[in-house]
Amino acid sequence: MTSAIPFPSADGLWTGLRLAPGAAPGTTLDAGSEAAIAVADGTIRWAGARSALPAGFEGLPLHHGGGALVTPGLVDCHTHLVYGGQRANEFAMRLAGATYEEVAKAGGGIVSSVRATREADEDALFAQAAPRLEQLLADGVCAIEIKSGYGLALEHERKQLRVARRLGEAYGVTVRTTFLGAHALPPEYAGRSGDYIDLVCSQMLPALAAEGLVDAVDVFCERIAFSLAETEQVFQAAKALGLPVKLHAEQLSDMGGAALAARYGALSCDHIEHLSAEGIEAMRQSGTVAVLLPGAYYTLRDTQLPPIEALRAAGVPMAVSTDHNPGTSPALSLLLMMNMACTLFRLTVPEALAGVTVHAARALGLQDTHGAIAEGMPANFVLWNVRDAAELAYWFGQRPVRSVVRQGRIAVG
Ligand code: NIG
Ligand code: FE
Repeated sequence: MTSAIPFPSADGLWTGLRLAPGAAPGTTLDAGSEAAIAVADGTIRWAGARSALPAGFEGLPLHHGGGALVTPGLVDCHTHLVYGGQRANEFAMRLAGATYEEVAKAGGGIVSSVRATREADEDALFAQAAPRLEQLLADGVCAIEIKSGYGLALEHERKQLRVARRLGEAYGVTVRTTFLGAHALPPEYAGRSGDYIDLVCSQMLPALAAEGLVDAVDVFCERIAFSLAETEQVFQAAKALGLPVKLHAEQLSDMGGAALAARYGALSCDHIEHLSAEGIEAMRQSGTVAVLLPGAYYTLRDTQLPPIEALRAAGVPMAVSTDHNPGTSPALSLLLMMNMACTLFRLTVPEALAGVTVHAARALGLQDTHGAIAEGMPANFVLWNVRDAAELAYWFGQRPVRSVVRQGRIAVG
């Protein structure tokens, strides 16, 4: 059993900071003016211009930021972090010309990770996922979503979700678990998709929800995965349990998944390269976040860009995430995803930064506790050794973290 890492408390007055644009909603600071953040009992009590600090906070112990840029703790809102093995062989197959769908049909793809995940016990899965989590945390991630979906049977999905919870406890990081039992059809259900979805809805989901292992429910709605009707069946089951939904939507084709998800008030629709105008309008009306996953787009050498301009015009919030998974996005840096979101998808730097903070938090239903530096929120923020926020997206392969305050503790610094 791994015990929690005893990081020192971040309580005190953090001074010598420069606030990144948009980092503290409602706080307007002149460029170049010094910012301060007061933390007590692990909670942000005040943030703003150092010169405007209320007298009551003056006596707190000092943490001097040395002129660092400060952002909210990053939020990685879409990952498949817990799985057995890896799939570098498929990378080679794709380099030789095979498509993702061809690899999947040849017995590779998600199902090959299912085999390796089923073979691993909980401790082995933990040991494999922990170094990957450490890499993401090194980029200033303070909250992360972890999906199941490589077990595809009750005991193995449970194993994945239990490991996700354990990772959160061991590293002192906020983990949101998402049940993705409808990720792929397990081989033992070949030709019996309906039976498998019945099992997901009537047994797996209720059992795992009762064990407190499910914060949200996701489906892979795609020609090589589950149909629109099957997706709706899972959403109905989630709704009956009062669980929020999200969707792997319109990645390889326009299935109409986003509009369906929006009807169920989905937290997010993710991938969305083939999202239609109707899908965008439905998401706008339901306040659903569009989660952009440039790592998967890049790995698959996709050429269908998500409809960024239309999402922007509609005011649909856009998040950016790693989609860390062994098949389509073996990405371990959210900063690199910011770079890709700008370079490949033409997001602006403020959009990319909002995409890994405030909008990513909303994609997990965590908007009241994460993604912003605001009074009353748990202290999650990152001090960066950069002059300008653009540098967070500009460098790739660089980790300019100076300090990380995570869950009110100094995790790096
Ligand atoms: O988000 N799209 C489906 N699921 C993953 C890929 C999973 C895999 O290939 O193992 C994704 O890209
Ligand atoms: Fe995914």
